[in-house]
Amino acid sequence: MAVGLQRPLAVVVCLMLCYLSGGLSMPDPRQREALIQQEESRQTGGRVVLTEAEQQLDALLFKMKQVEVASADFPPAMHFFQARHLIRTSPVFSVLQKMPKGAALHVHDFSMVDVEWLVNNVTYRPYCYMCFTDNRSIRFIFSSQLPKTLPRCTPWVLLKKLRDKMVNTTELDASIMGNLTLFTLQDPETAYPSQDAVWDRFEQAFLAALGLVTYAPVFRDYYYQGLTQFYMDSIMYLELRALLPQIYELDGSTHDRTWTLKTYQDLTRQFTAEHPDFFGARIIFTVHRGVNISVMTGVVEEAMKLQRDFPDIMAGFDLVGREDTGRPLWYFRDALSLPAERGVTLPFFFHAGETDLEGTEVDQNMLDALLFNTSRIGHGFALIRHPVARGLSRKKEVAVEVCPISNQVLKLVNDIRNHPAAALMSENHPVVISSDDPAMFGASGLSYDFYEAFVGFGGLRSRIGSLKVLAINSIRYSSLTPKQKDKALALWQKSWDKFVSENKLRNKGVVYVFFELHLM
Ligand SMILES: *[C@@H]1O[C@H](CO)[C@@H](O)[C@H](O)[C@H]1NC(C)=O
Ligand SMILES: *[C@@H]1O[C@H](CO)[C@@H](O)[C@H](O)[C@H]1NC(C)=O
Ligand SMILES: *[C@@H]1O[C@H](CO)[C@@H](O)[C@H](O)[C@H]1NC(C)=O
Ligand SMILES: *[C@@H]1O[C@H](CO)[C@@H](O)[C@H](O)[C@H]1NC(C)=O
Ligand SMILES: *[C@@H]1O[C@H](CO)[C@@H](O)[C@H](O)[C@H]1NC(C)=O
Ligand SMILES: *[C@@H]1O[C@H](CO)[C@@H](O)[C@H](O)[C@H]1NC(C)=O
Ligand SMILES: [Zn+2]
Repeated sequence: MAVGLQRPLAVVVCLMLCYLSGGLSMPDPRQREALIQQEESRQTGGRVVLTEAEQQLDALLFKMKQVEVASADFPPAMHFFQARHLIRTSPVFSVLQKMPKGAALHVHDFSMVDVEWLVNNVTYRPYCYMCFTDNRSIRFIFSSQLPKTLPRCTPWVLLKKLRDKMVNTTELDASIMGNLTLFTLQDPETAYPSQDAVWDRFEQAFLAALGLVTYAPVFRDYYYQGLTQFYMDSIMYLELRALLPQIYELDGSTHDRTWTLKTYQDLTRQFTAEHPDFFGARIIFTVHRGVNISVMTGVVEEAMKLQRDFPDIMAGFDLVGREDTGRPLWYFRDALSLPAERGVTLPFFFHAGETDLEGTEVDQNMLDALLFNTSRIGHGFALIRHPVARGLSRKKEVAVEVCPISNQVLKLVNDIRNHPAAALMSENHPVVISSDDPAMFGASGLSYDFYEAFVGFGGLRSRIGSLKVLAINSIRYSSLTPKQKDKALALWQKSWDKFVSENKLRNKGVVYVFFELHLM
């Protein structure tokens, strides 16, 4: 009845409004505007209230981004290897480098430092031996005596001897470098035609680097250098996925995991003491998902012990290696249930959903990670296709660690604009941006990945509010205690305010100079 009475009234109101808004069939522009606003406010950073200084910097960033989006060679649409030189000259990128990005929460132990440093610094140290494998890769070892020949590798040659015989070592050094990274100036599609091909090279490059970085003096310098490079890229805190492998000395003697973890702890303390605006680092102990159940059980036991003995430096546990060819989490369910069964704390930080094998066992890793109470999801590339897992991740605030360049190089997505994290960020899903294996991809720190996220899948809609929330998320979703988070956030806020005021001024200066030059 009531409906029947109201109908004529509605028609009258509509006639008036529709007349005012231009026609009977045209949607109401005010309603349209309201819907646009509603959608914008739902995205990551959509509800951030900006200070006046932030608004000024935002306007500048937006202008810079518009120029970039309109350019013919749009870096996020290209393969990172071919886009890198363009990104390096991008004004947006240079702002992102200086921007305090908070924490890097998904980075692996032996891909923190650019390979130039490995070649120019590490391979030039004395006692460095190299051998050539039968499928065109190389291996290294430091040793006071001639080491025993490896299977499927030539006898060891002292690198110094090899170099002394050459007039010019540029080519040798370039080929060493080529073996330590996936980065190449060749056409990436030809160099890596498939996921299998790129993962195969990835594993070979990892093995090539392993002999260098597990030599105790290099291990220490490498980590320190890694912290330095992230710090220089305006990162204040790191959570490092670390294999804690056996570390060796020149005489062939080795150290166990406890030594390695303790070394990380000592070096982190030293670095933090020397850089008061750096907050620290924690270690997520990782094991390769190719191991069998009995090995996994032993490793989980060890992880619980390390977590108990080193609660400050140890953040938790994770599995690494290619998900598609490795064992799914569910395969290890007994081993992974041990901590809960015994009432022992061992936080999990599982890689999950770094796959496009829809509908397979591997594709269930995200749901299983959530069922095992993972603290975050590494990659979660496939999350968008799993509404139940996505809902749980949102409800439980289990953040997704998005690593755009890694996903592109490892061939899950070509054009970064099509990255599924765009959808996650459009609804303010808990996400953080990270760089996974920057040295392997020819990147460094976090800025390149922030660029791909901000300019690529962020598009024109992603503004300074999104950047701010991404940085805050990296602290909020870290493994730090609530008290430590407050401290870290306060430290970050200080750097952020400084960054905003400096860049607002600096960029005004640039514009001013620009106008002056044009007036002359
Ligand atoms: C190599 O790196 C170490 C540690 O960072 C540094 O002390 C040393 O001077 C470097 N050597 C060369 C040749 O660059
Ligand atoms: C090199 O050899 C290893 C060990 O047999 C194999 O797993 C890998 O696929 C090979 N890589 C290439 C690039 O041929
Ligand atoms: C060594 O060779 C490279 C090319 O392979 C060349 O660019 C470089 O100038 C040479 N360096 C010296 C010192 O001759
Ligand atoms: C790796 O080193 C070998 C031996 O020097 C070389 O033949 C090969 O081209 C190198 N690979 C890359 C990708 O640079
Ligand atoms: C598991 O792997 C380890 C190391 O590779 C091996 O020694 C052990 O025999 C394996 N156990 C089983 C049950 O396959
Ligand atoms: C996950 O957390 C729930 C709720 O706190 C708990 O009941 C369950 O035992 C946990 N499961 C595992 C595998 O840790
Ligand atoms: Zn990873």
